[in-house]
Amino acid sequence: MDLFEKCRNFTRAQQARTEGWYPYFKAIESGADSEVVIDGRKLIMVGSNNYLGLTQDPRVKEAAIKAIESFGSGCTGSRFLNGTLALHEELEHRLAKFMKREAALCFSTGFQTNLGTIATVVGKDDLIFTDRANHASIVDGCRLSFGRTIKFKHNDLNDLERLLKRNADSGDGRLIVADGVFSMEGDIIDLPNLVKLAEKYSARIMLDDAHSIGVLGKRGRGTGEHFDLENKIDVVMGTFSKSFASIGGFIVADAFVIDYIKHHSRSLIFSASMPPAATASVIAALDIIEQEPQRIEGLWKNAHKMKAGFAALGFDTGKSATPIIPILVGDDMKTFAFWKLLFDNGIFANPVITPAVPPGHGRIRTSYMATHTDAELEHVLQVFARLGREFGLIP
Ligand SMILES: Cc1ncc(COP(=O)(O)O)c(C=O)c1O
Repeated sequence: MDLFEKCRNFTRAQQARTEGWYPYFKAIESGADSEVVIDGRKLIMVGSNNYLGLTQDPRVKEAAIKAIESFGSGCTGSRFLNGTLALHEELEHRLAKFMKREAALCFSTGFQTNLGTIATVVGKDDLIFTDRANHASIVDGCRLSFGRTIKFKHNDLNDLERLLKRNADSGDGRLIVADGVFSMEGDIIDLPNLVKLAEKYSARIMLDDAHSIGVLGKRGRGTGEHFDLENKIDVVMGTFSKSFASIGGFIVADAFVIDYIKHHSRSLIFSASMPPAATASVIAALDIIEQEPQRIEGLWKNAHKMKAGFAALGFDTGKSATPIIPILVGDDMKTFAFWKLLFDNGIFANPVITPAVPPGHGRIRTSYMATHTDAELEHVLQVFARLGREFGLIP
């Protein structure tokens, strides 16, 4: 059989395009902001990860422009050999200080950070305990490692304990890895109990704080700060593609762990480093996060308003406890139909269907920014209310 037979047989996307409800790869004609332009039409953006609204901040843009002027457009090599700039070291130094840890290491994307960290620290005789709802980059990091992966039910620490107990006598080292904030559900990992289990069963903890840094904790240091358990997390991972308004990823940990990963991680050593513009814009974003904690308050004010608004209307928003608020719709086709009407009515949100969620649990993932205006948020609630009634989702 021809290798490409599967590609020829893949017709779902084309069918959706023809029928006019294809929701992916939408080209945005404006900058990433609380309002975007698509097909010449303005839409309110409630489908980004731009939590602090820093993509359009003049200070962040200026830093990127200046970095291009000083360092050029790219690094043409990996951190390991010719691609380390003084800017990368400055950013790592600043991140370690911000996160109150000994050392930091930057990768070119968040995805590569998880791949290159998990696959490096987990050896063939080690065990990984991973939450079933963890991000795809953690799933792939586990697959790439030579260790054995054991999945526990989403945020179910009794299940985790059952599995830790069952495997107490096997394997060498143990890693428990979880998202701090889960990207589709918007709930927060039960870190206090996770820490207790890690101590009881001698496991190390890695948290993916992609959606937590700049969001959780008064100063935005993430899930550890939120629970006042920062010193109990062995490795914190973050990305620059969300609150930091750029691209790239990082980990913070003890210096000896970072030094090991620096010299063994294939996604770091065999991939070109973050470009100067991205690196400098992250430093500028970090300055703002440190100096303007009121942005985090603004983000939460908007998140609380929307959570309360959806609840008052009678929508099911699951276990969301963060600015990520999913709205339960139903089966996949109903979810696409709801998404399409939102889009036609000027709201950009994201449809989430199987296999990302169980059958019948399709949802619209919405997420909020510090810079959404009250008028924008009111409009979003009004459109959801009208469509929710039409679809029989609310009374
Ligand atoms: C929880 C989580 N981890 C990791 C990543 C990957 O980050 P990046 O987009 O920077 O590659 C994402 C982004 O989609 C994410 O949501």
